[in-house]
Amino acid sequence: MTPHTLVLEGDCLERMAQLETEGYQFALTFLDPPFNQGKEYVCFEDDLPAEEYWRWMGEVCQAVYRLTQAGGAIYFMQREKNTEFVLRILRETGWTLQNLIIWTKRTSAVPNGWRFGKQYQIIAFATKGRKPRVFHRLRIDAPLRPEYKYPREAGMFVTDVWDDIRELTSGYFAGEEAIRDLQGERFHKQQSPVALLARIILSSTEPDDWVLDPFAGTGTTAVVARQLGRHSVSIELDPKNVTCIRERLEVWREADSVAPLKHYYRFTPDLEQIWGQGVERIPAGQFRQTIYTICR
Ligand SMILES: C[S@@+](CC[C@H](N)C(=O)[O-])C[C@H]1O[C@@H](n2cnc3c(N)ncnc32)[C@H](O)[C@@H]1O
Repeated sequence: MTPHTLVLEGDCLERMAQLETEGYQFALTFLDPPFNQGKEYVCFEDDLPAEEYWRWMGEVCQAVYRLTQAGGAIYFMQREKNTEFVLRILRETGWTLQNLIIWTKRTSAVPNGWRFGKQYQIIAFATKGRKPRVFHRLRIDAPLRPEYKYPREAGMFVTDVWDDIRELTSGYFAGEEAIRDLQGERFHKQQSPVALLARIILSSTEPDDWVLDPFAGTGTTAVVARQLGRHSVSIELDPKNVTCIRERLEVWREADSVAPLKHYYRFTPDLEQIWGQGVERIPAGQFRQTIYTICR
């Protein structure tokens, strides 16, 4: 079955209230909000007083909780310096923490005069209830470390330190995957890597499950969910980004393909079942039939 891919323009709290009224329930939410660090966004203020920002994040986590099925998961991404706020907010809104994932950066550390340079972001993985409804223990074909004598014959389990997913930074390092304008500038500086969403979706959902992204940006969640046979709802405030998501879904880019990752996860038991049968691109002219957009 072709997965449903819904792209909703507007404020995520308003749209989530609408989804709740319509009875939607999600297996997984990927939460990658603006980090309130004064970035240039057109549609909203990225420089809120800290108290206001965390109150807002609390409301978002609460709304996601209501929309999540029993045992469903949230992956909340933030800067490492905000770890204590993230953990507090998840606890106060009813979530059970499963892992604090450390996503290490491949680029140079952000230097600091009086403490260690910073080189990771956190992703808090929490569930609605004590145990996850779904958790697939993925195995990866990690490169052999120099201190190991023999290669692992069946790969190794993914741990809570993710050092094998390249971030999409500026410059050449971002590679083909980064969406660029005609001048070659990054369209959205916070675009998440396909490999990150693939790991999250494969770990915490089954094919045919529903995935939610309240801060969709360039639509990475939708692009990946679709290929893995998962339904998704993406909410984005900035109309320019909504257009980007639609184009990304309509015009296939090889750099968005999850197919090359399959080999890396080949040691995972039942990988074929977990992977699901999705579709890469929406056939030309069929966008409206397969994607439902609720506009202002
Ligand atoms: C960190 S980016 C997400 C990037 C995304 N993970 C990707 O792969 O492109 C956060 C996004 O949230 C959007 N946003 C900000 N406030 C919002 C709101 N109230 N409701 C929905 N989206 C919002 C911004 O326009 C921005 O694109």
